[in-house]
Amino acid sequence: MTASLDIADLKARAKRRVPKMFFDYADSGSYTQSTYRANEEDFGRIKLRQRVLVDMANRSLKTTMVGHPVSMPVALAPTGLTGMQHADGEILAAQAAEEAGVPFTLSTMSICSIEDVAAHTKSPFWFQLYVMKDRDFVGSLIDRARAAGCSALVLTLDLQILGQRHNDIRNGLSTPPKFTPKHIWQMATRPFWCLDMLKTKRRTFGNIVGHAKNVSDLSSLSTWTAEQFDPQLSWKDVEWIRQRWGGKLILKGVLDVEDAEMAARTGADALIVSNHGGRQLDGAPSSISALPRIAEAVGDRIEVHMDGGIRSGQDVLKALALGARGTFIGRPFLYGLGAGGREGVKLALEIIRREMDTTLALCGRREISGATREIIAESPF
Ligand code: GLV
Repeated sequence: MTASLDIADLKARAKRRVPKMFFDYADSGSYTQSTYRANEEDFGRIKLRQRVLVDMANRSLKTTMVGHPVSMPVALAPTGLTGMQHADGEILAAQAAEEAGVPFTLSTMSICSIEDVAAHTKSPFWFQLYVMKDRDFVGSLIDRARAAGCSALVLTLDLQILGQRHNDIRNGLSTPPKFTPKHIWQMATRPFWCLDMLKTKRRTFGNIVGHAKNVSDLSSLSTWTAEQFDPQLSWKDVEWIRQRWGGKLILKGVLDVEDAEMAARTGADALIVSNHGGRQLDGAPSSISALPRIAEAVGDRIEVHMDGGIRSGQDVLKALALGARGTFIGRPFLYGLGAGGREGVKLALEIIRREMDTTLALCGRREISGATREIIAESPF
């Protein structure tokens, strides 16, 4: 991994090491993938302002996200099936985040369970919640996250039903993988992945199996989502979830100013401007293009975070400059995980940290709070 200088290098390495169906699961957007592409491309349209001969010594990227100190404003986003990019993936990523001093967010659809991640980490992590029709189960997930010491709940708003990702259907994605000749071939060509996977017992959805009733077909994520997720989830539900949880609450998946206004009224601590990595409404605007108007409208009432398309420290700075207080990365850490387990996630975070540090300096700033609109030379948004 020494040759990995940027996130693209880690992506190329992950592609060689992770079975195709799981690499593709992480790497896909829905339908034509236009929003997935826009998330990345739109960052490229923003230009930074170069400043010279200002004191660049003693720089710091430290700040807070929902009141928690972070070594830089970059959290690991909740991602499903992380433990299929690499054996024990959630535990390894949480440990890497802990070492880097940034938050790790565990997905409801993780392989390692809440309790398992808590047992293998010292710092509190954040838990992402999907709301199923079975409210007893949802309540028990909230209670389990609290009992495990999770320090924020990230409620996903934008996945009541699943946007179709063609690759998952073409690849016959399932967890654990089926034993058809195609799937056996995909795994046989990834021997290191297989060896690690044979050594672990964690190969199915740890938060759900053995906890939820009537789980008929969990191996297919799309079937399970369609059967179990609540398509009638509403703003009213945010209230009971907030009360049941009783701690820091982050609402994930806001892309519209009217929804941001609603989110601000819930009393949540933060919202995440997000289109689910381009995996839900194909044709929706990129997250970075939606960010400035949302930050402008509600930024004084609720902390505004963003995710989607971040592939570098420069991208993080652009998001901060356009109004985000914090950011989340999904695919960049998954590429690191697939490329090299815990060390790979650490490297992904280190790459982003170094890029951010140098770029902030070249913009003439020493503190992360200096990443304001002033560091932008040109932005179409
Ligand atoms: C689940 O969150 C997914 O995007 O697949």
